[in-house]
Amino acid sequence: MVDVHSVLRHASCLKNVFLHFNIAEFDPISPRVLDKVNCKLRDVHEWQGPEGESQQANPHDRLPQYFSENLPHTKIELALPEDFFTHPSPMAECILEQLRSQPTWLLPLLALGFLSLVKCSFTILKWVYVNFLRPGKNLKKYGSWALVTGPTDGIGKAFAFQLARKGLNLVLVGRNPDKLREVSDSIKSKYGSTQVKTVVVDFSGDLNDGVGRIKETIEGLDVGVLINNVGVSYPYARFFHEVDENLLNDLIKVNVEGTTKVTQAVLPGMVKRKKGAIVNIGSGAAIVIPSDPLYAVYAATKAYIDQFSRCLYVEYKKSGIDVQCQVPLYVATKMASIKRSSFFVPSTDGYARAALRWIGYEPRCTPYWPHSLLWGLLYSLPESIVDAWRMKFCLGIRKRGQLKDSRKKE
Ligand SMILES: NC(=O)c1ccc[n+]([C@@H]2O[C@H](COP(=O)([O-])OP(=O)(O)OC[C@H]3O[C@@H](n4cnc5c(N)ncnc54)[C@H](OP(=O)(O)O)[C@@H]3O)[C@@H](O)[C@H]2O)c1
Repeated sequence: MVDVHSVLRHASCLKNVFLHFNIAEFDPISPRVLDKVNCKLRDVHEWQGPEGESQQANPHDRLPQYFSENLPHTKIELALPEDFFTHPSPMAECILEQLRSQPTWLLPLLALGFLSLVKCSFTILKWVYVNFLRPGKNLKKYGSWALVTGPTDGIGKAFAFQLARKGLNLVLVGRNPDKLREVSDSIKSKYGSTQVKTVVVDFSGDLNDGVGRIKETIEGLDVGVLINNVGVSYPYARFFHEVDENLLNDLIKVNVEGTTKVTQAVLPGMVKRKKGAIVNIGSGAAIVIPSDPLYAVYAATKAYIDQFSRCLYVEYKKSGIDVQCQVPLYVATKMASIKRSSFFVPSTDGYARAALRWIGYEPRCTPYWPHSLLWGLLYSLPESIVDAWRMKFCLGIRKRGQLKDSRKKE
């Protein structure tokens, strides 16, 4: 007696076999086995019935079903053709037939198409998972304190509130003592147990002095999360030769030096504790679009942030420190000159909520999912078209900005 389950399991090694099935073994709770046999039995030529007489098989019979209905508990001997187990199913046979009839040059193309389809499906599934299903990390595992730069407005302020909501204590680093006090007070009144320390640093001023104060403040604190958010942009779009010395210095000092030196101040503690998460706020201006004309220096400083983050990610991965560059597109803030949020332009709160869920994962991400749709769209367009659209868009911003300036002067 051959056990049908084990025969099917070792099917590929069998050739030209007689199978003795006890029909009771076509176990109705094993539909996969039944399916396989049903499908293959169209190739059975004949079987030995219960009285030993030879019977011709009708290829259209669903034999196991027929046996189990009519001859339960009867031993049946099936004569199978040599290729019973290796013969492809009718569907596979049909596909193979179609492939054989194609010209040879088409086959590599079809293979490539198939691979692209698999890759595309995988990308979509991954996108759904990371945006909607993947849980955020427990940020308190990195340490009980978070340090946020530029927390008195916009995205940084929203980050501070969201981090307090997650139970972290805060070190807030900003230039305006009144605004710092105001944010600190409202966080404490909303999240009673949160401790907040503030450090006054003007990132466009004496940075070494400011960073010295940060070091003093964090001495002895386990700062596990660092949000390098502070950043400035142009008041409005302009050609590079129109960027004055002050603006140029501010962009480089705040965006590049600020992030670099604050990281340098906070990182050694993380290395010592072997844990930490650093989030550097980049911009779509440097990564999503091929160019950001009339914002050249801003975009270039954000390209620095992107590469700086990526290198640190690789350098410190094994030390338990997750470095990430977040790449927002437009968020409704003072810097973007956008007052109201919309589907593609989140509020600061909407952005920060999404942002927290990504901390500790990919080295570069755009946490707000409609932004990632735009990223995909822009990526799929020819660069010259995106460049031309962006130039036209920014020329419009420049014109409106100049008009505003001239009205102010009048
Ligand atoms: N909003 C967007 O659409 C967008 C898109 C991509 C990337 N980003 C990036 O996101 C980050 C935050 O931008 P945001 O839109 O939230 O800007 P924001 O609303 O203008 O807020 C900027 C924050 O940085 C502080 N800050 C500015 N200059 C400073 C200085 N010299 N010293 C100390 N603090 C200073 C501001 O302090 P005050 O309150 O005193 O002004 C404020 O707290 C930036 O790095 C920006 O490049 C923004």
